[in-house]
Amino acid sequence: MTSPVSYELVDDIGVISIDNPPVNALSQAVRQGIHDAIAAAQQDASKAVLIICDGRTFIAGADITEFGKPPQEPYLPDLCNTIEDSSKLVVAAIHGTALGGGLEVAMSSHYRCAVSGAKVGLPEVKLGLLPGAGGTQRLPRLAGATAALDIMTGGNPIDMEKAATLGIIDHIADGKLREAALAWCRELVQKDAGRRKTRELPVATVADGVLAEYRSTLAKRARGQIAPQKIVDCVEAALTRPFAEGLRIEREKFLECMQSPQSAALRHMFFAEREAAKVRGLSKDTPQRDVNKVGVIGAGTMGSGIAMNFANAGMQVVLLEVNDEALGKGLSIIDRNYQGGVKRGKMSAEHALACRGRISGTTDYESLSDADLVIEAVFENLEIKQEVFATLDAICRQGAILATNTSYQDVDRIAAATTRPQDVIGLHFFSPAHIMKLLEVVRASKTADDVLATCMALAKKIRKTPVVSGVCYGFIGNRMLGHYGREAQLCVIEGATPEQLDGAMEEWGMAMGPLAVFDLAGLDVGYKARQGLPESERGDPRASRVADALVEMNRLGQKTGAGFYRYDPETRRRSSDPEVQALIEREAAALGVERREIDAGEIVDRLLFALVNEGMNILDEGIAQRPGDIDVVYVYGYGFPAWRGGPMHYADAVGLAHVLERVREFEQRFGSENWTPAPLLEKLVATGNTLAEWAKSSSK
Ligand code: 3HC
Ligand code: NAI
Repeated sequence: MTSPVSYELVDDIGVISIDNPPVNALSQAVRQGIHDAIAAAQQDASKAVLIICDGRTFIAGADITEFGKPPQEPYLPDLCNTIEDSSKLVVAAIHGTALGGGLEVAMSSHYRCAVSGAKVGLPEVKLGLLPGAGGTQRLPRLAGATAALDIMTGGNPIDMEKAATLGIIDHIADGKLREAALAWCRELVQKDAGRRKTRELPVATVADGVLAEYRSTLAKRARGQIAPQKIVDCVEAALTRPFAEGLRIEREKFLECMQSPQSAALRHMFFAEREAAKVRGLSKDTPQRDVNKVGVIGAGTMGSGIAMNFANAGMQVVLLEVNDEALGKGLSIIDRNYQGGVKRGKMSAEHALACRGRISGTTDYESLSDADLVIEAVFENLEIKQEVFATLDAICRQGAILATNTSYQDVDRIAAATTRPQDVIGLHFFSPAHIMKLLEVVRASKTADDVLATCMALAKKIRKTPVVSGVCYGFIGNRMLGHYGREAQLCVIEGATPEQLDGAMEEWGMAMGPLAVFDLAGLDVGYKARQGLPESERGDPRASRVADALVEMNRLGQKTGAGFYRYDPETRRRSSDPEVQALIEREAAALGVERREIDAGEIVDRLLFALVNEGMNILDEGIAQRPGDIDVVYVYGYGFPAWRGGPMHYADAVGLAHVLERVREFEQRFGSENWTPAPLLEKLVATGNTLAEWAKSSSK
């Protein structure tokens, strides 16, 4: 097998080139190749060594596919030390992204240059890890402890200009990287710059209390996560111990993280997110339709946010409303959102203006006649949506993609209102649509392959994480949420207070408890959805008693200042409300429910296993392609903690047999109407398989 690393002498510079597509990850073969090349350079006529990569990026880190397998020599920390100990001066030349182990290799080199536009970062924390090849010890020496903490606990890459200011990058290369880097190597040799070992640089001390403050901020910002706190431990070691001891502490903590369920969950999420973008049975070569002009129908909560996504990605957007007043309202939501983005430093005023300039408004369907994609976001009502689609069918050009943002309606029935159901698809955004990452792409029974392929690619363009769903009531996310929300509300009727209920879920890791989420989304949304259903399909009537009563009291949630909680008009801080408690007790009495103490363990299991059980049915029916897709939906759309890996990964982690045992117990206690074990769950437990194993075998 040829090595992904080559070594050649270019005059008096030894050039190590890494070519390991797609992202030059540090597989064993790459580590070995670099190791051998450094060894060769010690013996040859080179005066300096250049590490450079082919393809789209510098090394993007350790090879994550090797994690969890027996480690193979040469180990990365040793390789980094070998580079630093090289008797020949070593320079790293960076383009694309130098991430994780990639930046660690660069920081072990004696100097670093980069093209402008390149980025560097230590994103290990996003995998539940910490930099494990000297990064926690070398970065504070280059950039200072506080900047290093920010970079390592945030995990986000920084641009070259910032990296240069911080001292991570020594030289920004103009023109072609290889030539510029070679020239700079020669310059360093001529200047007799010498080998500047990062390990030998001093770490600037920080003021007393800085680390303690960092720890307490992280306890809130990264609640429940272990890796960020361990990063602070390592930086403390960098500040207080000799380098070698710092490395030893880093190694110990890295291995603890690597073996943690949190890292397993986050690594699962890394691959699940990328796999979700792939549609089974859809060839990579499926042609795509051109999308330059986008129409959005309905400029309400969703339509206005949806429009911004496409404008931000450089597309022209026409927003259609029923009348000028509604249109004006929608456009002013957009103005406010852009202003908010500028104020929060998310975008520059010029960029916001340019994006806003791509959005125009209309009340005339004719303006959509040349649109390439039209997304409907009108009221959640099948007849109205069908009417809109019939109009679109009459007006839009042939080949235009017609999408609905419906939360619950049957996309096949919407498609049937047109003469071109092959062009119809669901694009289910999440609120706020210009911020939330998830996009459920609903494949209706007649959706054409090229329409689906176009929408999956488009999702990436507008920086969403797409997940394909089949057609069913609520698709993947909201269908499961129905079960989660039901159990939440039943627990409240049976005895938990809203604070206990939300507190238990938040303590477990959810970004927000379910009742607080209902308040945020607006209790009227669920109310209207229920009203739109025949009574037989509204689910357990006990569950929505309190929410319905709150809506009828005009307590719609945050937007009216009160729902399950009361909200401070200034801070939006929630507080409990005795009026709600009295309402809950009245409703419980009317239902003949004898209230009892419900502990956090019961709350968590009932809510999560209700999700898992329904997730199993969704998989069995082929609504979701794989368990990982469901996890992506929950992490990116519903505030499920990524470090728990999504509900389906969580089920595997606690053991499917345990899940089934609890589901059966709940069936006995609460009845089979709400708690029938999913056949797939029973089957997997009977065969002793995990969901991950099942997913692997069913993808073959
Ligand atoms: N190891 C193995 N495979 C990787 C990888 C890695 N570090 N990084 C990316 N890949 C794979 C992806 O799984 C994907 O595979 P697929 O095509 O089969 O789905 C392919 O490379 C392309 O990745 P993306 O789709 O993410 O491509 P983008 O161009 O959108 O992004 C990137 C490129 C910014 C490099 C992004 O892939 C990324 O952020 N990668 C992870 C970087 C990372 O976390 N590095 C740290 C690793 S841990 C570490 O280094 C430990 C050390 O401290 C000891
Ligand atoms: P909304 O009530 O805020 O906005 C709907 C807009 O559509 C209104 O401005 C209305 O004037 C306009 N409209 C109604 N009929 C129209 C027609 N025939 N032609 C043009 N415009 C028309 O509703 P919201 O919340 O934006 O929801 C829109 C759709 O998005 C619904 O299908 C909803 O289920 C779905 N959705 C809502 C989410 C949410 O959190 N609000 C999340 C995801 C999807």
